[in-house]
Amino acid sequence: MAIPNKVLGELKAVRDPEVEEREVDILIVGGGMAACGSAFEAKKWMSEGQTVLMVDKASLERSGAVAQGLSAINTYIGENAIEDYVRMVRNDLMGIVREDLIYDLGVHIDDSVHLFEEWGLPMWKLSEDGKNMDGKKGMKMGTLKSGAKPVRTGKWQIMINGESYKRIVAEAAKLAIGDENILERVFIVEVLLDANKENQIAGAVGFSVRENKVYIIKCKTMMVACGGAVNIYQPRSVGEGMGRAWYPVWNAGSTYTMCMKVGAELSMMENRFTPARFKDGYGPVGAWFLLFKAKTLNGLGEAFAGSDAAKAELEKYAPYGTAAVTPTCLRNHLMLVEMKAGRGPIIMDTMTALADLAAKLDKKELKHLESEAWEDFLDMTCGQANLWCAQNCEPEKKNSEVMPTEPYLLGSHSGCCGLWVSGPDLDWVPDSYKIKAANGKIYNRMTTVDGLFSSGDGVGCSGHKFSSGSHAEGRMAMKSMVRFVRDNADFTPTLSMSKEEIVDMVYKPVRTYLDNCAYTTDVDINPNYMKPEGMAFRLMKATHEYGAGTATFYQTSSKCLEVVMDLLQTMREDCEKLAAGDLHELMRCWEIFHRIWTVESHLRHIQFRKETRYPGFYYQSDYPGQDDENWFCFSNSKYDPKAAKWDIFKKDYIKIIPD
Ligand code: FAD
Ligand code: ADX
Repeated sequence: MAIPNKVLGELKAVRDPEVEEREVDILIVGGGMAACGSAFEAKKWMSEGQTVLMVDKASLERSGAVAQGLSAINTYIGENAIEDYVRMVRNDLMGIVREDLIYDLGVHIDDSVHLFEEWGLPMWKLSEDGKNMDGKKGMKMGTLKSGAKPVRTGKWQIMINGESYKRIVAEAAKLAIGDENILERVFIVEVLLDANKENQIAGAVGFSVRENKVYIIKCKTMMVACGGAVNIYQPRSVGEGMGRAWYPVWNAGSTYTMCMKVGAELSMMENRFTPARFKDGYGPVGAWFLLFKAKTLNGLGEAFAGSDAAKAELEKYAPYGTAAVTPTCLRNHLMLVEMKAGRGPIIMDTMTALADLAAKLDKKELKHLESEAWEDFLDMTCGQANLWCAQNCEPEKKNSEVMPTEPYLLGSHSGCCGLWVSGPDLDWVPDSYKIKAANGKIYNRMTTVDGLFSSGDGVGCSGHKFSSGSHAEGRMAMKSMVRFVRDNADFTPTLSMSKEEIVDMVYKPVRTYLDNCAYTTDVDINPNYMKPEGMAFRLMKATHEYGAGTATFYQTSSKCLEVVMDLLQTMREDCEKLAAGDLHELMRCWEIFHRIWTVESHLRHIQFRKETRYPGFYYQSDYPGQDDENWFCFSNSKYDPKAAKWDIFKKDYIKIIPD
């Protein structure tokens, strides 16, 4: 249940918070697309007497990557073959993907899209004479499920009027499991293993960001779907723009950190997403490229992406670079080639695109087209529309700059880092892609820790799920989770930490603050502690300069990686002295802790992979280019919580779908 917004500023933290203990069969951590999919599906499969709880750090109706709404659903299979979906994802991610996970998702994804429409999400449709019908007009054309034709931008994407997308999806989740089974504004900080059963998940702990209260929740199975990670690299927007980023502010690497800390295996953590976006406002480019057919120009006004030089550059990365659709990282790479050669900035030619479209339209249709251009941003990144206003930019009269952003870590968009999970228990899925639980059974989307599942941005090796795929994957995982509970009915979760130890851990920054804050006149400056804001800047400076951030055009080297690893080690030690005077700061302390662990795994993976698999996303300058002979494989890592040691190793890639 939601606790209202704060009225009078941040709530001061107290030394001894209230403690609420709960025990449920199924715990869903996160409240985004994947978690809402899980919640919706739970009720369908749970039997009488089974219990479920969903915990979101924010408010379900406006949390996660879809918070501001979206203007497209980027994956709808529709008339396409699922095999082609696998081929598209494989090509975009430079060959190394889990084809079992992608194919399996492809089978189920459209069902989620059909549900969104049933729940009231307006989808654009094509009229009989091929015109785009949006809003109510689109709704009148019938549903996609009943055969109405969507407005496709690319082969996989369909347009929606999606300002209220997240509210619609959240409402369905709430109706399915009931408000009483949802905790909002509760930040989960650690997940815990069972005291008696080896490698079995048993619970999670966190705190309310609105009340001085710690939550201890025991469970038999758990979904961790807290999205990916933002603000791990210094953003391009600094100063008055600080806080503006493409990826949503809530997602601080909690999924990867919490799961790796209990020993769950991660995969392809070296992968990152560095999206090209409208500069400073972070407005998405997809609709401009695909729907409006806009081109990008370099600073000399040349359409560089189609030039002979670009073709020659892409040849180096065949077969991916020479495919019909250039992979996302290589599209960035071409921009970076221009910028590094002094031929920047990169410009989205909105004027020509709109003028070309206008030539085929009457006055009314033209007005509508212009409003669509604005709505693309108003539906999902309204800050970009604000920026256009602030800069007197009318896209039909003035072009806009495009820029690759700071890096983000995620597994559902055009990236593929995340947890190594089990594929479905089907005969065509290789054994090495299946994870056996202690009872010998296989549970789709379970991590290498028994009872611990993930989906959406949390699951690695399988990007291009987007909003629809994350929802569908959450649903698929939940079906296995309910089966896990049924198969392990006699399991009683037991935590090895006492209630006092848990509160000590969660509220440690508060106690550090209270013990020392009277020593100085300014509570932010103290020889005995540090505030999370300073630590956040420290992390971003280190990754920015040494970890292939924007400072170096995304380049790093073996030496730089050594330096940043050393800095991270000190940061982790210094985190012992983080201090929080109020609940907002306590959240910031835990977020920075999650971010440091996540970044460390990212950089360890980059250090391990001795090649540059994703040019345009990052460059390992000691190992430029791709080395298929040695590195056409997954790289997986595992942190051993008992020995406090990392292990990184190769895992075989297996091709399932032929070219
Ligand atoms: P999210 O939906 O981000 O959910 C993460 C959830 O975890 C949030 O509820 C958050 O509050 C919660 N959380 C985080 N940490 C904790 C914690 N420690 N404890 C408790 N809760 C926590 N897809 C499309 O199909 N079409 C588009 O046009 C499109 N545009 C996009 C535009 C932007 C700007 C972005 C960022 C993404 C876009 N996507 C789009 C992709 C899509 O939004 C994501 O693929 C999808 O939301 C991922 O789902 P998820 O559940 O993994 O993460
Ligand atoms: S959004 O999710 O934030 O809207 P983005 O604008 O990058 O993302 O892309 C939306 C969709 O369009 C994704 O499916 C992406 O792969 C695709 N896309 C974006 N730009 C291009 C392009 N130049 N060529 C082909 N596909 C593209």
